[in-house]
Formats: sequence, C-alpha cells, structure tokens
Amino acid sequence: MTYRTISVNKIAGALGAEISGVDLARSNLDDEVIGEIRQALIDNCVIFFRNQNLTPDQHLAFGRRFGELQIHDFVEGMEDNEEILEVRKEADEMRNFGGGWHSDVSYLEKPALGSVLYARDVPAYGGDTMFANQYLAYETLSDGMKDMLGRMRAMHSARKSYGLYSLRATQNVKSAMNIRFTEEAHGEVDHPVVRTHVESGRKCLYVHGGFTTRFQDMTEEESAPLLDYLYSHAVRPEFTCRFRWEKGSIAFWDNRCVQHNAINDYHGQRRVMHRVTIEGERPV
Ligand code: SIN
Repeated sequence: MTYRTISVNKIAGALGAEISGVDLARSNLDDEVIGEIRQALIDNCVIFFRNQNLTPDQHLAFGRRFGELQIHDFVEGMEDNEEILEVRKEADEMRNFGGGWHSDVSYLEKPALGSVLYARDVPAYGGDTMFANQYLAYETLSDGMKDMLGRMRAMHSARKSYGLYSLRATQNVKSAMNIRFTEEAHGEVDHPVVRTHVESGRKCLYVHGGFTTRFQDMTEEESAPLLDYLYSHAVRPEFTCRFRWEKGSIAFWDNRCVQHNAINDYHGQRRVMHRVTIEGERPV
C-alpha cells in the first residue's frame, strides 16, 4: 500500500507501524488523511504516532473520526469527559491496568473496534506495551485445529476483572482508578472463536486470557486445556511487537485482530495515559 498524505514505517515483522507527517490536534484533518490512517491501521493492526500534543477534546475528536466512543461500564471516566479513561498507576501502587494479554471489552456484545491511547506521563524506563497479531495466531494453526475452532464459539465475561470475587476486589488492591466491582460483571456473551475482520476480510483468533471464560456449551474445566494452549500460542514472540512510550506518543490498535499487554515493570514510578475506545460491531 502506498500513502499520499502520511508516512508509514513498520516497526516489526509481525505488526505495528509508526506514522509520521500528521498533527492529530488539527480538527480539520481531511477525509483523505483519516482514510489513510484507517488503511494503515488495517494494514498494520496497530499504529503509533510520536510528539503529539492533544487536549482531551482533540483526543475525543480524533477518536470520533473512526466511530462512536464507548463509556467504560466498570471504570469511571474523567470527570469532564467520561469517554476518556485515565489509565493511571501511581508510584506507590503495585497493580497496573491492562496488564496481561487481552483485547479490550470483549465481554460486550459489541466489543471495541479500536483504542487510542495517549501518553501524558511516562516512567523513565519500563511501562512499554506489547501487541500480538491474531491473524498470524490463526494462520499458523494446523488445518484440523482451524477447522474445529471455526465451528466453535467462546464465552467472554468481565467477572475476572470487575466481578465481586475478582482479585482486585477481594484483595482490596490499591488503585488510583475508580473501579466498580459488581454483580453486573458476572454476565457472559458468546463470540466466534475465529472471527472474520469486516474490513480486511481475513480470519483471526478471538480468545484471550483477559475475558474469555470457556467454550460455549462446555465447562471451564473442559475448556481450560485448549484455551490455555491458544492463549500461549497467540502471543508467540514472532507474532508481537513492543512499543516504548514517550510523553506525547499515541498507540491506536485494532482490538478485532490484536491482543495487547501493558507491562508492569515500573514500580515506584508514575504512568498516566488517556484512552478513548471506539465502538465496534458484533464479531462474525
Ligand atoms: C489498556 O489495556 O488499555 C492499557 C494499555 C496500556 O496502558 O499500555
């Protein structure tokens, strides 16, 4: 793919590209630029921008160019902008938000299309985010496994993170973020184990350790061996890239075909990011 209005440079073999030549604070970015950014996202699964200077309103405006924004069901958004999730870990906290491989809000009937994460305050070292390409995860399975998984559905739930018996809730883990632990998080929705990306037309694996609980019509115990295999297969090093944050960096990932993992290796330092989350469609 050639681009006319932006420069796109891949950062790894599996996925990820850095985009330059665009100031995202501009409210009047023309449709051609937005179209090329969208194409770069589809082509690379996650895209990165450096040295951006966005107000919360500009961040929201950029996100809205790609769809409706979601309000998180269990984590309170910012006071004046509830569609912005402040992903914050203070120097005296041990647990981070988004640690562990996952795809955002897959416990919803319509999970997120994408997330746009903007770095406001970053640690001197550590706090990188990793991404894994779920097209490659699917394509590298055997034909027999692809065939079987292609006929299966899996259940997703928010209960491990936001349920009444989640680790954070029961161990009373200190958090700068205002998280609601509730019975509402205990519900389940089902999605195909192999989903077809509506824009690329390609198939990818859509189960992950964050919110997938079991295969449909099976118990958690019955599902665990195969799910555990898929979780580790899905994030093989050669399917990943790793992003080193700087203040003003942005990562925009496609939750439909990417898992990500916020690495919690910066205890004693503060990290503050703002996330807007773009609504997607029901996975097919
Ligand atoms: C998230 O999962 O949205 C957080 C990712 C990060 O903080 O790097």
